[in-house]
Amino acid sequence: MTSRTTLYIVGSMGLLLLAGTSALSLAADAPGSATFTEEQFERGGEAYAQHCALCHGGDLEGGAAPALSGVNFRRAWSLLGANVAELYDRIVNTMPPRQEGSLSAAENLAVLAYVLGSNNVLPGSEPLRNDYAYLARIPIARGDEALDMSASYIEGLYGTEPTGSGPDSAALLTAGDNAADWLHHNKSYQGIRFADLDQIRRENVTGLQQVCAYQMNSALPIHTGPIVYQGIMYVTDARLTAAIDAATCRQIWAHHWQPRDRTVWPNNRGVAIKDGYVVRGTPDGYLFALDAATGELLWARQVADPWLGETFTMPPSIVDDAILIGPAGSENAISGWLGAFSLSAGELLWKFYTVPEAAAGGGPTWGNPEGIKLGGGAVWTPLSFDLELNEVYVAVTNPAPDLPAYLRPGDNLYTNSIVALDIESGALNWYKSIVPNDDHDWDLTQVTPVLKAQRDGTSRDLVATVGKDGILRALQIESCDAV
Ligand code: HEC
Repeated sequence: MTSRTTLYIVGSMGLLLLAGTSALSLAADAPGSATFTEEQFERGGEAYAQHCALCHGGDLEGGAAPALSGVNFRRAWSLLGANVAELYDRIVNTMPPRQEGSLSAAENLAVLAYVLGSNNVLPGSEPLRNDYAYLARIPIARGDEALDMSASYIEGLYGTEPTGSGPDSAALLTAGDNAADWLHHNKSYQGIRFADLDQIRRENVTGLQQVCAYQMNSALPIHTGPIVYQGIMYVTDARLTAAIDAATCRQIWAHHWQPRDRTVWPNNRGVAIKDGYVVRGTPDGYLFALDAATGELLWARQVADPWLGETFTMPPSIVDDAILIGPAGSENAISGWLGAFSLSAGELLWKFYTVPEAAAGGGPTWGNPEGIKLGGGAVWTPLSFDLELNEVYVAVTNPAPDLPAYLRPGDNLYTNSIVALDIESGALNWYKSIVPNDDHDWDLTQVTPVLKAQRDGTSRDLVATVGKDGILRALQIESCDAV
């Protein structure tokens, strides 16, 4: 950096500074901009050359590994979700690969100082320190690069259209009969969770061996339900979305979501795919779409509010051009909902509120003798569908406050109920309350499979449902209460 000519635009003061031979002579001591010392920068340069340059390039320009400088890097660590505290976390916890933790804390801070200094952040008199709030305030993107972290809608750097295609509606519709792919979290819209394969049998199951492994490089919980399409498997944790070769585990691409807002629970149960999009939710309430072919972000939109305790953990479903998803967070006394959002941009199409009476402070099925905050009705497990009836089935989970049922006398609709909604409008077609006035956190969690069965010589549409009370029930759809 010292030998490069660098243009600084210090927006807030309206100053345009041009640095000649040594940018470091331009110490910025304005409040909030003092970030690291020249000494840290110099030491960081040495540590970088020794531990990072091999992969990231002698000038941070990238090589075997991504560039750690340039406008895209700065945007990725501001616009696309992150701040400098997250960047520091990323370095400390994942770099250098397979030697994480080999640099001392002082060396890591110095390397970060070097990366910042090489990205137009000015040194100051205060040394960089490991303090989340302090690091998070350092503006890495400046002037015309500066991007609004509060933006609730983000467009991908390379546009919002995927470059590939498939699976299309017809493939998703017949996914239950397709033994080569696994296109829905629960295998099919009906949730059959079964593939008719015969290579693994009772006689040979004891001979199963590991073929390969994919290292997710993550200390976060792994709850993902893998999706497989044409030999490529999509897996997730709360931040990572990866496409891997399902036969060899070779990584094709990896996308790291950097939280832009409060992270509630770091769990994620996977993606939904359609027409070249890979779609998922995040712990900080974003819904986003990646290009299935490249892993590039197409769009991200914050559609849930983590400050209300809402957080996405469930895998979404895609029907035609609608993504269906709802937030977890009953224990945070959210007012639950299921929403439909457009596949092309995440725009809201409709929302069904799962606990309308609780949100209103009480009602006929929600007494409120103590005048407390009521809520719950989160959705955190996969949906199922009867596309002939044009219905989506939702397992609505527990009420809040969670255990003291006497604080909310009544059936507490629609908690622990299966609700059937019209897919196009989100209108409630019928519901069945399975565990009214729950006092055990007996979430209703499963609405699969949807099946046809013979009863009294007639074919019936049934939906199976079970929750933490451990009782499996099959409901006959035609006889469920119409609303
Ligand atoms: C052996 C090669 C290698 C070395 C050495 C290495 N990295 Fe990396 N680094 C990678 C690869 C590959 C990626 C991208 C894949 C991934 O996300 O893990 C990466 C990603 C990163 C990222 C995220 C970039 C982004 O914008 O998403 C940062 C930051 C980073 N490395 C910093 C460092 C620092 C600092 C060092 C030295 C302490 C270092 N790396 C050493 C290979 C390396």
